[in-house]
Amino acid sequence: MLWGVLSDIHSNYEALRAAIKALEQRGATGYICCGDIVGYGPQPNEVVECVSRLPSLRCVRGNHDLAVLGRMDIQWFNAPAKAAVMYTQKTLTEQNFAWLKELPPIVEEKTFTVVHGSPRNTAEEYLVTVQQFHDNCSYFTTSPCFVGHSHLPVCFLMREPVSYVEAGTLGDGQELRTPEGTRSVINPGSAGQPRDQDNRASCGIFDDQRRTFTIHRVKYDIAATQKRIIDAGIPEFLAARLSYGQ
Ligand SMILES: [Fe+2]
Ligand SMILES: [Fe+2]
Repeated sequence: MLWGVLSDIHSNYEALRAAIKALEQRGATGYICCGDIVGYGPQPNEVVECVSRLPSLRCVRGNHDLAVLGRMDIQWFNAPAKAAVMYTQKTLTEQNFAWLKELPPIVEEKTFTVVHGSPRNTAEEYLVTVQQFHDNCSYFTTSPCFVGHSHLPVCFLMREPVSYVEAGTLGDGQELRTPEGTRSVINPGSAGQPRDQDNRASCGIFDDQRRTFTIHRVKYDIAATQKRIIDAGIPEFLAARLSYGQ
């Protein structure tokens, strides 16, 4: 089965639609979502409704989803992020709140695991170093373990029992092989707010038969999302950063 892998959509419906279209065209029939579905962006209802209807969805919640639900202290959020959380709280329908509330912190399948931050700290850890990958290996059983949160398309892979780790960033079209017996963590990057200086939506395809993962970068109508952010009264900074992919 081919799985479309998405993370950190952050209420950016234009980016989500473009990413799903690209993933569908590449044959995705199931979807994995690593959380942060809402926050930052202008269209939380459209995004929740679209994600919740994806076929064979395996989805976890992120720290922004928890913040919107009032389940996470937002004192460490910066001012624009806080403002976006408050906008989302007053905009989301009751039904969409209820859907977000049901999302688990971790999904474990035979051929993969899904969390938002890291397996040991699903809401808050940015898994970006080899040491963190090592430290997290005892917290998940099936690989790849898909993560989000850092908004960076990166991978870590270790062939057992050797402890040498291959790690790196994943560029558009790059295919990563994750054969049986390897432990891996993969971040598909952010669909709705990329932070690797590439302003295209980031997403990927996981082939659970061939055990490969391929990153795809997808152009979308950034100006349309920016206009909606400004019209919604969300801080302009969150519109501007989309142009730069950071
Ligand atoms: Fe995020
Ligand atoms: Fe996050």
